[in-house]
Amino acid sequence: MTLRIGVLASGRGTNLQAILDAAAGGLLPAQVVVVISDRAEAPALGIAKARNVPAFFIDPRGLDRATFELQLADCLDRHRVDLVCLAGFMRVVGKVMLERFESRILNIHPSLLPAFPGLDAQRQAWEHGVKITGCTVHFVDRGVDTGPIILQRAVPVLDEDTPDTLAARILKAEHLAYPEAIRLFAEGRLVREGRRVRVLPPEACRERNL
Ligand code: GRF
Repeated sequence: MTLRIGVLASGRGTNLQAILDAAAGGLLPAQVVVVISDRAEAPALGIAKARNVPAFFIDPRGLDRATFELQLADCLDRHRVDLVCLAGFMRVVGKVMLERFESRILNIHPSLLPAFPGLDAQRQAWEHGVKITGCTVHFVDRGVDTGPIILQRAVPVLDEDTPDTLAARILKAEHLAYPEAIRLFAEGRLVREGRRVRVLPPEACRERNL
């Protein structure tokens, strides 16, 4: 069965692109069926349209969070989305979305969580002087970048790095990590045990007929 993905993005959309590429290349048993942005001018919308993926702007101005999320959730449901992927979506996800898509919302963050949550994580890591940082794909919960971790990729910080060169290196790791995490989800290999997420070996899923 092909997993139906809805992507929420506020910006340039390189992670969206990586997910689309992985799906088109047959690396994911999944398909992006809708892209939604809270910013009319987000390049992510153009990327989706160029691939003939339905793309929508939902204007958050003047709406409280619950009303905005109701519109988001209804649009995702209309497209029969199984999994929601946040890819540079610059909003905290609230109760409406979390209840409608319980355990079915993923996010990617450009640091090794729980270090450097929130905005500008790459610069935070660079300023702190860590030698290794990276990216994290996690389930979304009520907090900011606090949900159960699915997978992480480490990236070295080099002496000559600037926040920008470091962010570019992390971004390359993100483009591998996000499709990989989605593949594990699509294959039914993620088992949540409280905060911990166990990744089942592929054989286990074949045995369970997934
Ligand atoms: C990425 O660094 C992601 O980790 C963070 O927002 C950025 C989105 O970039 N959550 P893009 O729009 O996917 O290029």
